[in-house]
Amino acid sequence: ARVEFLDYDVLTERGWSLTDDDLFEKAAESGLDGDAYGEVFVEPRTNLLKAAEDAGHSWPFACRGGACANCAVAVVEGDVKMPSNHILSEEMLEQGVRLSCISLPVTDDLKVVYNIEHLPGLDELRL
Ligand code: FES
Repeated sequence: ARVEFLDYDVLTERGWSLTDDDLFEKAAESGLDGDAYGEVFVEPRTNLLKAAEDAGHSWPFACRGGACANCAVAVVEGDVKMPSNHILSEEMLEQGVRLSCISLPVTDDLKVVYNIEHLPGLDELRL
């Protein structure tokens, strides 16, 4: 799967929103550095976090086991599956929030915002 990614810090800095229809178009045109915006390829049975790390990126994480939410990302296009979820609320799941350490892509193309620790509601989940 091909995953286009964007750092949530960029949204904060520029006043962009996860719900902006043209979020990734704006990002593509903004000359962002390769850590903040780019793409990674995820092999089958590989989770998002691992794929990003294999590509040389440092995305936030702690437990690597689906229990802390430090690795949370917002999937804005495409979808992933998680074998389990014990911490994300229904509301977060509806917003597209997923745990990158246990998320396996199920669509060929995805757009994902990582580093969403400042998203409302996530702070209290992080251990
Ligand atoms: Fe803890 Fe993913 S690193 S849930």
